[in-house]
Amino acid sequence: MSQESTVCTAGPALLPGMVPQAVQLTTVVEDIRPMAQNTWAVRLRAPEIAARITPGQFLMLRPAHGSDPLLGRPFALYDVSADADGVPTGVEFGFVRVGKLTSLMIHWKSGTEVTVWGPLGNGFPVPQHRNLICVAGGIGQTPFLAVIREALGQRHYGAPARRVTVHPESVTLCYGVRSAAFLAGLDDFRLPGLDLRVATDDGSFGHHGFVTELLRQRLSESRQTPASGQPSEPLNDTVVYCCGPVPMMKAVAEICRDRAVPCWLSLETPMACGFGACFSCVVKVMESDGSWDYRRTCVEGPVFEATRLALT
Ligand SMILES: Cc1cc2nc3c(=O)[nH]c(=O)nc-3n(C[C@H](O)[C@H](O)[C@H](O)COP(=O)(O)OP(=O)(O)OC[C@H]3O[C@@H](n4cnc5c(N)ncnc54)[C@H](O)[C@@H]3O)c2cc1C
Ligand code: FES
Repeated sequence: MSQESTVCTAGPALLPGMVPQAVQLTTVVEDIRPMAQNTWAVRLRAPEIAARITPGQFLMLRPAHGSDPLLGRPFALYDVSADADGVPTGVEFGFVRVGKLTSLMIHWKSGTEVTVWGPLGNGFPVPQHRNLICVAGGIGQTPFLAVIREALGQRHYGAPARRVTVHPESVTLCYGVRSAAFLAGLDDFRLPGLDLRVATDDGSFGHHGFVTELLRQRLSESRQTPASGQPSEPLNDTVVYCCGPVPMMKAVAEICRDRAVPCWLSLETPMACGFGACFSCVVKVMESDGSWDYRRTCVEGPVFEATRLALT
């Protein structure tokens, strides 16, 4: 158990060897707000986690009292909140009501006690390419606010703060949902410098069709030369980060593979512990020698190179 838990501690002991950055604490909800239909954002007071967490990492949480559900549930970082001096004070995540815990969570209020442990997982790599394209489906947009803010140089994450040495020249978010009512946090993504493109399956907002069509379109565009504004060369030196339903991620992985564009996928494999102890979250991953092995999504993921995964 970490010595850095400052409120009080409860729940499973953490294994520092596997998740040396992680702390566990029982803390309080600071705010809960609706984001979209059946979707909410929760901000927790958690300065220790807020100071350490990086884009694409996640938290596990469960109610502080009672034993139902007994196991924690994983949620990706949406963003870090900070005080007037910029000192990180809390973590915010978004959630869709699915089952047992998320049905309880919609009744949480400011002051509700919860047990949380994190930061967990590897998160997305610091972007090293000229063009960053994030592709999100449904609640899969949540990891990308922090990814994008970091890529645009608007915020630093981690302790010590990780630096983006080469800021991408273009940052695009292709965000797809079933219908306009499910667009979550759209205003949060209206960031200077972000090329935001939205698709809805029913055409009620943005492009009428799948988000994969937005990705194809973006990849087929020419890169603009900043000085002339004229198209200069095909979009190259590009990386794609993706999170969403498995069929969508599979389609995105295939589009990227066909164009030799590197692609990273964030998996939402169900998890029981979140810190490497239970092996409930294993996925088949290709090793560097071409053989296949099983890796724990909670420790070695949730972000993997698409070419290393066998998505079914
Ligand atoms: C790394 C990671 C990050 C995540 N980030 C977010 C996030 O930011 N926002 C968000 O809303 N959700 C996120 N999820 C998914 C979230 O953890 C589940 O929706 C949540 O555990 C459901 O809990 P529950 O108790 O409400 O549902 P349960 O009662 O546990 O389950 C209800 C049903 O959903 C199924 N289920 C549970 N978890 C998953 C899953 N991950 N994928 C598919 N089916 C599942 C169960 O098998 C069951 O059929 C993330 C998952 C992972 C692994
Ligand atoms: S959730 Fe327990 S090992 Fe990954």
